Amino acid sequence: MFSASKLVFYVNGREVEENQPDPETTLLQYLRLKLKLTGTKLGCGEGGCGACTVMLSKYDIVSKTLRHFSANACLAPLCAMHGLAVTTVEGIGSVKNGLHPVQERIAKSHGSQCGFCTPGIVMSMYTLLRNNPLPTQVEMQSAFEGNLCRCTGYRPILDGFRTFTKEYCQMGEKCCRNTNSMQCNGNGNLEEGISSELFDSSKFLPTDSTQDPIFPPGLRTDKYDQQSLTFTGERTTWYRPTTLQELLELKHSYPDARLVIGNTEVGVEIKLKNMCYKTMIAPTHIEELNKISKDSDGYTFGASVSLAVIEETLQGAITEHQEYQTRMFQAVVEMFRWFAGHQIRNVAAIAGNIMTASPISDLNPLFMAAGVVLTVASKDGGTRQIVMDENFFLGYRKTVITSQEVLVSVKLPFMQQNEYFFGYKQANRREDDIAIVNAGIQVMLEANSNIIKGMRLAFGGMAPTTVMATKAMKNCKGRKWEDDLVMDMAEWLADDLPLPPGSPGGVTEYRRTLCISFFYKFYLAVLLQIKQRLPEAVQSKVPSSHRSATFIFQRDPTKSTQVYEEVSPNQPEQDPLGRPMTHLSAAKQASGEAIYIDDIPLYENEKYLAFVTSQKAHAKILSIDSSEAVKLPGVVDFISYKDIPGHNKWGGVAGDEEIFASEKVLCMGQIIGAVVADTQVHAQRAAKIIKIEYEELEPIITIKEAIDKGSFYRYSNSISNGDTVKGLELADHVVEGEVNMGGQEHFYLETHAVLAVPKGEDDEMELFVSTQNPTETQHVVAEALGVLANKIVCKVKRMGGGFGGKETRSIAFTAPAAIAAAKLGCPVRCMLDRDEDMVSSGTRHPFYGKYKVGFTKEGKITALECDVYNNAGHSLDLSAAVMDRALFHTDASYNIPNIRVSGHLCKTNIPSNTAFRGFGGPQGMFITETWIEQIASTLGIPAKQVREINMYNEGETTHFNQPLVQCNIKRCWTECLERSDYYNRRKDIDIFNSENRWKKRGISIIPTKFGISYTALFLNQAGALVIIYMDGSVLITHGGTEMGQGLHTKMIQVAARTLKIPASKIHISETSTNTVPNTSATAASASSDLNGMAIQNACQILLERLEPYINANPKGCWEDWVHAAYFDRTSLSITGFYKTPNIGYNFEKNSGNPFNYFSFGVACSEVEIDCLTGDHKVLRTDIVMDVGVSLNPAIDIGQIEGGFTQGYGLMMLEQQKVSPNGFLFTRGPGNYKIPGFGDVPGEFNVSLLKGSVNNRAVYSSKAIGEPPLFLASSVFFATKDAITSARVDAGHNEYFQLNSPATSERIRMACLDQFTNMFPAALKDSYKPWFVEL
Ligand SMILES: Cc1cc2nc3c(=O)[nH]c(=O)nc-3n(C[C@H](O)[C@H](O)[C@H](O)COP(=O)(O)OP(=O)(O)OC[C@H]3O[C@@H](n4cnc5c(N)ncnc54)[C@H](O)[C@@H]3O)c2cc1C
Ligand code: FES
Ligand code: FES
Repeated sequence: MFSASKLVFYVNGREVEENQPDPETTLLQYLRLKLKLTGTKLGCGEGGCGACTVMLSKYDIVSKTLRHFSANACLAPLCAMHGLAVTTVEGIGSVKNGLHPVQERIAKSHGSQCGFCTPGIVMSMYTLLRNNPLPTQVEMQSAFEGNLCRCTGYRPILDGFRTFTKEYCQMGEKCCRNTNSMQCNGNGNLEEGISSELFDSSKFLPTDSTQDPIFPPGLRTDKYDQQSLTFTGERTTWYRPTTLQELLELKHSYPDARLVIGNTEVGVEIKLKNMCYKTMIAPTHIEELNKISKDSDGYTFGASVSLAVIEETLQGAITEHQEYQTRMFQAVVEMFRWFAGHQIRNVAAIAGNIMTASPISDLNPLFMAAGVVLTVASKDGGTRQIVMDENFFLGYRKTVITSQEVLVSVKLPFMQQNEYFFGYKQANRREDDIAIVNAGIQVMLEANSNIIKGMRLAFGGMAPTTVMATKAMKNCKGRKWEDDLVMDMAEWLADDLPLPPGSPGGVTEYRRTLCISFFYKFYLAVLLQIKQRLPEAVQSKVPSSHRSATFIFQRDPTKSTQVYEEVSPNQPEQDPLGRPMTHLSAAKQASGEAIYIDDIPLYENEKYLAFVTSQKAHAKILSIDSSEAVKLPGVVDFISYKDIPGHNKWGGVAGDEEIFASEKVLCMGQIIGAVVADTQVHAQRAAKIIKIEYEELEPIITIKEAIDKGSFYRYSNSISNGDTVKGLELADHVVEGEVNMGGQEHFYLETHAVLAVPKGEDDEMELFVSTQNPTETQHVVAEALGVLANKIVCKVKRMGGGFGGKETRSIAFTAPAAIAAAKLGCPVRCMLDRDEDMVSSGTRHPFYGKYKVGFTKEGKITALECDVYNNAGHSLDLSAAVMDRALFHTDASYNIPNIRVSGHLCKTNIPSNTAFRGFGGPQGMFITETWIEQIASTLGIPAKQVREINMYNEGETTHFNQPLVQCNIKRCWTECLERSDYYNRRKDIDIFNSENRWKKRGISIIPTKFGISYTALFLNQAGALVIIYMDGSVLITHGGTEMGQGLHTKMIQVAARTLKIPASKIHISETSTNTVPNTSATAASASSDLNGMAIQNACQILLERLEPYINANPKGCWEDWVHAAYFDRTSLSITGFYKTPNIGYNFEKNSGNPFNYFSFGVACSEVEIDCLTGDHKVLRTDIVMDVGVSLNPAIDIGQIEGGFTQGYGLMMLEQQKVSPNGFLFTRGPGNYKIPGFGDVPGEFNVSLLKGSVNNRAVYSSKAIGEPPLFLASSVFFATKDAITSARVDAGHNEYFQLNSPATSERIRMACLDQFTNMFPAALKDSYKPWFVEL
């Protein structure tokens, strides 16, 4: 044994030596702060987003092979890097020296919008190719299980990377597999003038593995593996023993030590649970703990073997052994499909999973059901073996293994022929999500019979530990495997697995139903297997349609088409307008060279700020004690409202927020103060120990509570048109109803971030902020500092996503940093951790709609009365404007002759809810589409029919009296019906549903009409500064900010068209308040329209100025004319300006046009649900979208797919969980699930409506950012359609309410059947719920 106290590893081929590594430092912190490799991003810090993905490589001296694997740098302890090679995105290519094909393809296939996720995705793909140069599409898709992107909708990434796979056809996008017959002219070709090519794969760099960085020769040794290590940091000592004896000695000396292998559990505890472990021991290099062996009874895995290696080994075993022997292995391998992502499975160990003893561990139920045998050892007690059974777990996160013992190995047994085994897991999202309930079930039958010899059932998610259903296990012995067993088992399981309403985790009836549903699936699956083996032993009346209960969730690789109108062949080649030009930053984003706020190099005297936020939803602040905190290492100061030289108040028109809470807190997460220190770690540690005394006041959390208590903001807008009383009288039917739509976390990959730099003279300050709203930021900061706005400059280069979340809320974090910077006279930086961001920054507004609608027997609407409520939170922010837009969209796409819609803003004690893509529009339309479905259900006709007979026609006026001009809704509708082959598929679905009891399909086609403009008139203006330099290059600044939506790219296309020069001569470097002042926030989808017009205006003036020189030298070139103009003393810079004409609306009079025009679209989606679990998958989506004349079809299609995917998250997956006293449980990707790669529809077709023009926006284009989001409701209503079929099978024909999001719980519990009947919902006021509907 050798010992070393120096950490040695390689990064991108260079040796790194660190003498004093701090065991609490992660690889990500080291890469970014010490090595200045900022390409690897921090998106969550908990292994849930993949933005920090790097490739680790290790040489195995025994097999003489290299192992490359992806890992999350945010969880990888720096100390664990000893002897490893780390490759980051910078190590594989750069814009300067040439991109790697992986970087090039994601960029050119439009797979990078804001780019914050891109380096991580690049590294997942790169690692896959290093191990497998020609993967299948399934392998490729699987590589991204641990990566998230909030912008793209994933389709373009998969398309770009598909070119690396086995299945990729050299015909590229023209491959027959990619062309949907509906887009073809009958000969397999697309119509003339229509293209489906968004990139040209023939121009891609070829893959050439010889160009890949070599593994450092200095690491081809076992020298580093043999070294025992000891590193001591500020609070923690790290030991890495190399023998079992050494490990046992250490554990004996430090029984409280944390063993760390993958650190995927411990790392999260340190980061999110504020844990500090004085001693950490890495048992990663001990032979016994890394051994894999097999004998006649099964396979034994050393405790430190990674899950990825176990998966690989079991897959091998499955092919090697008899099918029955490996039934348990098959269940484990199947479970791994749904267990985290590759980055986690590559490093996490089997011991880590068992020993964490999490009640929702995915492996423990399988291991308990199989009776896995563990070998443990301790210095004093030697070695002993333990069976994992009902006695193994002693309590929450406690097992029978003592603190002196370590787990050495785990034995997974072979099964016998008459033994059956399955595993089950239900989560909100299929991939990379924690279980709601999981189970392992084993049954042993008597030889050659169907009599139960013994059964073992283990469940996770039902108690503080994984539990075994002991009563059911006992009672079932001797019973036959026959149908009457099911309901008896259901009764016993219900007894074994009680779960009182209000238990932690919530959804108790669902969880109880799931246990029984799992057993039912198990029963049928085993029955089918017995039937095959012993047909004579089986007496079952289960009809064949019930087999669908046993189908395993499968997802085929995504197919897609994107269709758009090509530019005219006569368009000059240099004119980029209308072409699918790549996002101008995409290459830099793919190589990690694009700079975001936290990538800006550190200033010499810079400090870091961490927030101190309220832990109460509503309370008086009695005292704040920072005395202990300021004594901690590195701490410089504690800042509070007392340090504000100017105003503490801010917040739009109402000015109803405090920068730092002074006397009262109004929600959890509200900012009370901030600690400034030398590093983030020091600032955050100190912030956590600030003591605040509160006097608690009663909080109001939900809309219903606010209604009960009359807690509203002053808001009186409503829209009335016609006579609803008369309309209701005319109706053949009147129905009433209500529906809720939950909020949505923005989950931009880059959290809120700011760098405030005082300039040292005249009170000037420069702010680098991730904000959509530089102007308001500038003004609020100026007021807070008590200086004029001309002293403050706010700059935005790019954002890692915004989606509305950075329209106003970024100011809440910027102002404190500016106050601290002004007070201390030094630059102050702050980037929120994901949990801080989610807890304090507000979300999309939850909505509640209550309606009464009248209609004829044909389904024609006669009147609507509707009250719409939103949960505004603790301040007004943009809630009134959000409600206005909701009211404007309560007609959705339908002509409602008599209408009254009124809005109400609920004042509650949750963080202030704010703008989010769609801004109330989707919520307004959702309420409408809900009652449309109710009309259809009442009349027993298809909802499609109700939609069609009420849909707007050209020239009709909306309920706010705006005429619909160039109304393409019906064109989109007809085209979508055709392209989606709606009628045939409807028939197929009906047949499928009649043949399957437990899997159901549904289809829905939904239109959208979205009004474009800010509803606040004054915001509909924009400015631009266009400068032509002497060399002919052009620099543009405009009022819009780049958050991934491709605004700058489109603006350059507009300028290139107007100036008639190539885009390559034009540059946009940033948005800044000292170049273009008084800008509106980049929002309302209107930024291309407004800024594009302002740029066009400026360019036209410049062209006019150049005209004399062009006329004088018509054969000259651009540079000649610019030169001539300069020498002739002609000004070559100009500001352009634009204000939208003829808009402005008056609520009182219900007159004037709130919108400049409307964007239209239609989507048709087909969904399959699992009625027993609530799982769903989107089989196909077809979208037809009217974007006018597209400025850039690649960007527009990217917005459609990205918007649709966000809408899908809103309506199907993303559920905020807040306790009745306002505590947010969903604080990170671990428990808040945005759509992942696996959620892309199985077939995803998008086409841009042909021949649409719009004479109200720049170059006939249309806004696209927000309109497509609502199209995802087609998935929601298709799901409702599928549930309806399940309910009909169970004899329930009545209409039912389905709230959004349609989570697996809501889907399952709406599919009423004999199992759900066992667990009726508890009476509302009989218990305290764990989380509430906001
Ligand atoms: C993003 C993400 C997704 C996840 N998804 C899932 C999922 O889908 N399903 C699931 O079940 N889990 C999931 N987990 C939890 C976690 O990854 C697993 O539990 C994993 O197996 C832990 O292994 P590790 O090596 O990283 O553990 P570590 O964090 O290194 O250690 C965990 C615990 O095990 C103890 N320990 C380790 N080795 C020994 C030993 N030899 N003897 C005694 N004690 C020991 C440690 O002291 C520590 O308490 C997820 C985690 C993350 C971060
Ligand atoms: S930052 Fe590491 S996974 Fe999100
Ligand atoms: S491009 Fe993926 S998060 Fe923005």
